Amino acid sequence: MTERKKMTLPSLFAKVAAGQPLTMLTCYDYSTAYLQEQAGIDIVLVGDSLGMTMLGYEGTLPVTMDDMIRHAAAVRRGTPSAWLVGDMPYMSYQPSVESAIRNAGRFMAEAGCDCVKLEGGTEMLPQVAGIVRAGIPVMGHLGLTPQSVSALGGFRVQGKGAEQARKIVEDARALEEAGAFAVLLEMVPDRVCELITNRSRTSFIISLGSGPRAHGQLLIYHDMFGLYPRFKPRMAKLYADAGKVIGDGLAAYVGEVQEGMFPQPENYFGMADEAYEELRRLIGE
Ligand code: KIV
Repeated sequence: MTERKKMTLPSLFAKVAAGQPLTMLTCYDYSTAYLQEQAGIDIVLVGDSLGMTMLGYEGTLPVTMDDMIRHAAAVRRGTPSAWLVGDMPYMSYQPSVESAIRNAGRFMAEAGCDCVKLEGGTEMLPQVAGIVRAGIPVMGHLGLTPQSVSALGGFRVQGKGAEQARKIVEDARALEEAGAFAVLLEMVPDRVCELITNRSRTSFIISLGSGPRAHGQLLIYHDMFGLYPRFKPRMAKLYADAGKVIGDGLAAYVGEVQEGMFPQPENYFGMADEAYEELRRLIGE
């Protein structure tokens, strides 16, 4: 594995201060984390979107802390250098500050994460402040927050109207004041994202489908590579159609096995004549 320097909060903020955009991707397993490590991704998010991309649920709500810990630990093993974000799943932090601190602590102690992310604005300030007080960095998440998709009325842009946008702007400021080191804005209009970025003082802003005027960009790995079959969000960019490449490979494998073309001698292991004859003698053939 190529040696990289470990990303830390000071090194992330140094990049921001130098005007270098931060790169952030979702990741859920060891081998993909290895590729992201090699590519030099700054921030890796083990998102509860793994409920959909890895576990096949319709949404993120069934994902448990144990699911998250297992995947986050695997990702840590693949990317020792990236700043690793553990995404707090549904009902792991909403019920109380204590549950939030305990579960954030599990991400750090059991999975080796560097911080946690949780969804919500002013209503989650006690949880954010409590986790920060426990010495765990927190990334906020505003705009489209999938755990509240039912209340939000579906997967749609948030903050198109001035009043709703004002709430997002105020929430971002409140999260910062509660100690969040960063805020992720998902599916917020670009101008709202730009305003929030310009107004941020002690936090940096990451955009997911919220335009270029943030301190960094996030994409969902499965959307980048055509690996999620159910839908493709408009904001996603397909960097390579790995889903098609793999599909073609699978079809070729099925065809070759059916036609007796696979395996060839280089794909299996032989046995010396002498040993084979001895084996036949031993089993009475
Ligand atoms: O779970 C996840 O991947 C996320 C992103 C959608 C931001 O929270």
